[in-house]
Amino acid sequence: MKNTHLLTLTVVAGSLLTLTARAGILGSPHDFHSRAWNNDPANPATVCAVCHTPHHADPNTGPLWGHTAISASGWQMYANGASPGANIKYTPASAPTGSSLACLSCHDGSIAVNAYGSVASSEYITNGAAISENSKNLTHSHPISFNYQSIVGTGPGQDKWIYDSANPVLAPDANSPGFTPGNDMSIRGFLLNQQGNLECNSCHDVHNQEGSPYNIVNNPHLVKINGTAGGVGSLLCRSCHNK
Ligand code: HEC
Ligand code: HEC
Ligand code: HEC
Ligand code: HEC
Repeated sequence: MKNTHLLTLTVVAGSLLTLTARAGILGSPHDFHSRAWNNDPANPATVCAVCHTPHHADPNTGPLWGHTAISASGWQMYANGASPGANIKYTPASAPTGSSLACLSCHDGSIAVNAYGSVASSEYITNGAAISENSKNLTHSHPISFNYQSIVGTGPGQDKWIYDSANPVLAPDANSPGFTPGNDMSIRGFLLNQQGNLECNSCHDVHNQEGSPYNIVNNPHLVKINGTAGGVGSLLCRSCHNK
């Protein structure tokens, strides 16, 4: 009897997880399934295909990446050309690394959102969401693509005003699905990638599964931690910055 209940519970929990995963991206700004250019616009199951492919994937850009990728040459990174703060310590990479290139494949604005598979390119990001301004220019954006922990400390080339990556992040409230007991809620575990680098997905969740769920009013920018409900503002920023 007990065992049967356990089994039922597991099955229910399993299907809930699947539902949450789908509900996360469906209805969010990255849900393109109903666009006329999609091969099968009536079918929500096609939601992943704009970015991922199970076979013949591009191994250099993102996991099972199926979208046309932006090249890694010719980038201007933060502090290369803008007006950096006098105390900035990180050394800019020559180009975005990790999955940031995947984001910028659409968010530079120069490659079409629907540049994948056999779909003809027709839709481009033309507004402020073109983060690198159609010209591989990241000088106006928060630094990305560097190892976080290597600049934590008081030594030369280190910044004493950022927290150790083992420190926990500031959680806004218990409504955020990523903030569950048992998950690694350190800066390293929640905000940095496997290599310990800071990338676009340190602050955003393209699938909005972790941290604050997508809500067009409270969390329009898909940030992993927002300051609504119980939290005070800027929790995302203050998770890393001792300010
Ligand atoms: C708009 C583009 C886009 C869409 C649509 C998209 N993804 Fe992703 N996905 C990414 C990017 C970029 C990454 C790498 C960065 C990251 O992990 O957030 C990624 C990473 C992943 C990963 C590996 C990282 C992890 O979280 O374990 C999985 C698994 C994944 N996606 C599954 C899916 C599934 C399933 C769907 C459809 C429900 C989907 N993705 C839809 C862009 C997308
Ligand atoms: C397949 C193309 C594509 C990829 C890949 C992609 N995005 Fe997007 N994203 C879009 C489009 C299109 C929008 C809607 C833009 C608009 O508001 O005009 C959007 C919206 C967003 C928004 C909300 C913008 C707003 O108005 O607040 C954020 C934040 C975002 N993307 C971040 C990311 C990040 C981070 C990644 C990588 C992990 C990523 N995106 C990968 C196409 C993409
Ligand atoms: C340090 C945290 C952080 C990083 C790293 C970061 N973002 Fe953001 N991003 C934010 C925040 C916070 C906002 C909301 C800004 C606001 O409310 O004005 C935002 C806004 C956006 C928007 C909506 C802007 C608009 O004008 O419509 C997009 C799109 C976006 N980010 C994409 C990206 C991409 C792509 C990358 C990597 C190249 C990236 N972000 C890296 C924190 C970050
Ligand atoms: C994942 C950790 C992390 C998050 C989240 C984060 N930052 Fe940062 N930020 C850093 C690191 C690391 C640096 C580089 C510090 C250095 O080089 O000395 C940095 C650099 C900066 C700089 C310094 C630029 C300069 O020229 O001196 C500012 C300003 C800044 N961040 C603001 C913000 C704001 C605002 C937010 C929230 C929207 C935010 N950060 C979120 C880690 C983070």
